[in-house]
Amino acid sequence: MNVPLLQVEQIGKIFHGIPVLTDVHLQLSAGSTMGIVGENGAGKSTLMNIIGGNLTPDSGRMQLAGDNYAPRTPRDAESAGVAFIHQELNLFPNLTIADNLFLTGYPRTTLSKFMLPRIDQRQLLLQSACLLELVGLSVSPKQRVETLSAGERQLVEIAKALQLKPRLIILDEPTTSLSFKERLRLFSLLDRLSNDGIAMLYISHALADVRRLCDAILVLRDGKVVGQGAVEEFNNDRLVSLMVGRESTQQFPQRSSQPSREIALQVENVSQPGTVKDITFSLRHGEVLGLSGLMGSGRTELARILFGLEPMSSGQIKLHGEHVSHLSVARRIEKGMAMLTESRRDDGLCMHASVESNMSLVVEPKFSRGPLGILSKARLAAELRQMKGKIQLDRNAQLKSPVQTLSGGNQQKVVLAKWLLNQPKLFILDEPTRGIDVGAKFEIYALIDQLAASGASILFISSELEELVGVCDRILVMRQGELKDELDRSEFDVDRIMHASLQANQENSA
Ligand SMILES: Nc1ncnc2c1ncn2[C@@H]1O[C@H](COP(=O)(O)OP(=O)(O)OP(=O)(O)O)[C@@H](O)[C@H]1O
Ligand SMILES: [Mg+2]
Repeated sequence: MNVPLLQVEQIGKIFHGIPVLTDVHLQLSAGSTMGIVGENGAGKSTLMNIIGGNLTPDSGRMQLAGDNYAPRTPRDAESAGVAFIHQELNLFPNLTIADNLFLTGYPRTTLSKFMLPRIDQRQLLLQSACLLELVGLSVSPKQRVETLSAGERQLVEIAKALQLKPRLIILDEPTTSLSFKERLRLFSLLDRLSNDGIAMLYISHALADVRRLCDAILVLRDGKVVGQGAVEEFNNDRLVSLMVGRESTQQFPQRSSQPSREIALQVENVSQPGTVKDITFSLRHGEVLGLSGLMGSGRTELARILFGLEPMSSGQIKLHGEHVSHLSVARRIEKGMAMLTESRRDDGLCMHASVESNMSLVVEPKFSRGPLGILSKARLAAELRQMKGKIQLDRNAQLKSPVQTLSGGNQQKVVLAKWLLNQPKLFILDEPTRGIDVGAKFEIYALIDQLAASGASILFISSELEELVGVCDRILVMRQGELKDELDRSEFDVDRIMHASLQANQENSA
């Protein structure tokens, strides 16, 4: 009889009295890859945390290759052959790659029986080099992790997992911060691991990726399994309707307004050596302007310069005709600028603080009155409650919950809410739908449309061309720090945008 590699039966998990997983079952055969899909807060990461030994279930049982499997710690899971690559990477940036790879068990040497064992530096470097070769990363193991790109760090995480000689690897949204090329590289590595007989559980909101990589799919909704089977049994419509619990709707809302002729933001010849060169464009009131380009093309750097987070060596930035280039970030916020950064963990959120304190971070001064600046708590609380509904925050999340107990996608919504409360006039959005499920993406597009209709201007940075084409009035394309193309809505063409963003790479490799 063929024993499945992993058998999960009737798993339940309750957080503070609220069931987050109910009666979850899954069966994974050796060497196969299963995609785990579901809306934000559906319980995907929680389930993986149970399988990976980070959490213990409140009910149910698991078996690994026919043996009882009840890991109490990640170490237990690892020694049973289960490795976990988390939604937010877990590397130490200031340590070397080799140190990161072997932190939990360095190769040791004993020089003589009277001396304590020491780290075997030669073996450490040798074994690290082998692991790096296995994942196709040609860098020195002595290099610090902070010098690596997001994609390279992801490969180091996988190398770290492979060091454990796993039978099963869990990957929680591994592609969210990868460029197009890095993603393809990751996929060919995962194909290779799969051919070598390693099983995988793969969480992603990118359904096309799940189709490309997986042979089976498990759909979770509100902590329950609502679909499980071979990938061929699910077409996209069926998947989405299982995930959201209703027939799938359209992907993008209709734009409800036209941009005005009046210019809100004027950017003239902005340059900063090494990042952006001679950038000139304008953004009108009520306009949604897309900024496309590959990772590393300078999109994020430009956004950070506009918001005042990075310096510029020359050029002008005018907001409503007024020079703002010399202003601090705080003054720019007062002038109505807002920016959603691409990494919520580093500069978007205080993870230990509550949802409400994170949401009120920017807007609090507006709710303070009189010379003493007394905070009108009741008015603020009313706004916060309303906003919680508007962004459709997880039903389980309370305003008092610490942000770190929210699912990844819901954390992103909190950052968005923080800025929306301030009613920004110019909103820079850097990858706002990263880690957000299909249903909630639609809500964010609708919010962008409402903002534009109320006269605000939006600079929308995204790696997903389809969403730029679906939402924007105009799209700019960046390549190697320069603006290379500009398309009006009537000219939108995914191939043309791809071509404009990619040419540099071809030039590079030529
Ligand atoms: N430590 C915790 N304490 C309280 N609630 C929690 C905790 N961890 C997760 N939750 C809740 O459990 C539910 C499921 O969260 P989980 O992170 O598993 O979702 P997810 O499917 O991974 O979503 P996403 O796609 O947004 O990452 C959410 O309602 C979340 O708020
Ligand atoms: Mg998650």
